[in-house]
Amino acid sequence: MASKNQFITFNNGQKYPILGFGTWKSKPGEVVEAVKAAIDIGYRHIDCAMVYENENEVGTAIKQKIDEGVVKREDLFITSKLWNTFHQPDYVETVIKKTLSDLKIEYLDLYLIHWPMAFKEGKLEDEWFPKDANGVTLEGNGSYVETWKAMEKLVQKGLVKSIGVSNFSKKQIEDILNVATIKPVVNQIECHPYLNQKKLKEFCEQKNILITAYSPLGSPDRPWAKPEDPSLLDDPKIIAIAKKYNKTSAQILIKYQLQRGNIVIPKSVTKSRIESNFDVWDFALEQGDIDVIDTFDCNGRVLHLNWNNHFKDYPFHDEY
Ligand SMILES: NC(=O)c1ccc[n+]([C@@H]2O[C@H](COP(=O)([O-])OP(=O)(O)OC[C@H]3O[C@@H](n4cnc5c(N)ncnc54)[C@H](OP(=O)(O)O)[C@@H]3O)[C@@H](O)[C@H]2O)c1
Repeated sequence: MASKNQFITFNNGQKYPILGFGTWKSKPGEVVEAVKAAIDIGYRHIDCAMVYENENEVGTAIKQKIDEGVVKREDLFITSKLWNTFHQPDYVETVIKKTLSDLKIEYLDLYLIHWPMAFKEGKLEDEWFPKDANGVTLEGNGSYVETWKAMEKLVQKGLVKSIGVSNFSKKQIEDILNVATIKPVVNQIECHPYLNQKKLKEFCEQKNILITAYSPLGSPDRPWAKPEDPSLLDDPKIIAIAKKYNKTSAQILIKYQLQRGNIVIPKSVTKSRIESNFDVWDFALEQGDIDVIDTFDCNGRVLHLNWNNHFKDYPFHDEY
């Protein structure tokens, strides 16, 4: 089935759909229908992670759409991520194999180190957020540089086509580049008008690393959201721009990323939104409007995970 999706090219030549489909917080009972709807609508890039605890259901949806003949495996671009308790190099292959088995596929298109921080090392059956008696997350001994070398082996074994990082700062990317024989293709980071990541994007561009913008709508369903927190989707300045183009706020926020050359992965379990979030190909924001949206930046990070800010590799102490 043809899709309107547009592609962007990684530093290794692999082409990837620039607009993908997020799955964090999508409950197992909702995500099968959501992913099936997304594939029917034309999404070909699905963003997964083991810690989302729904890869098995995402895999069910993928398998159904392949079995129905709607898509072939090679039409799809599946990303997953290595969780923080699994940074020990000799365990990485076991972990990706569990993800592949849950997703019911033979290879991933892209595998990311989910966070630079290592939690106390564990096995698949262990707790993914190991805590001490006071509820404080326990730090591991892992080094993301050593983990990167294990990620490279996955490419050599054909378990994944491309590898990258997520939530890495400039310094942490430099550490990886200093040892890499395979360069990261993307840094997946929080990115939206309140945190437009201009500096980190410029640095990554110099290194031929693309940005994948996560939480592009401001992640209103993040578990720690408070009613008084600012809402990007309801921001009158975004609504005014949306009115001008006769589009929704979400479509403006998605298009903002696409026109900046960022991959973008909005999440929804609502069919009408899955559909409208993909309906962004028939208009372009004027440069003047992009410049205005750029001025909304206010260091408005929502995925700060500041309960881990005592970790040596907590990424957000670095300037960018
Ligand atoms: N690498 C990382 O550490 C990391 C961190 C965060 C996210 N991610 C990835 O990025 C994806 C997107 O980020 P996110 O899930 O945090 O947040 P998001 O995509 O910014 O926002 C998702 C929320 O927006 C709602 N929504 C979607 N489309 C809408 C529309 N057209 N109008 C109004 N509301 C709409 C969704 O509601 P409904 O679902 O109820 O429709 C959901 O509550 C994740 O799902 C995940 O795949 C990665």
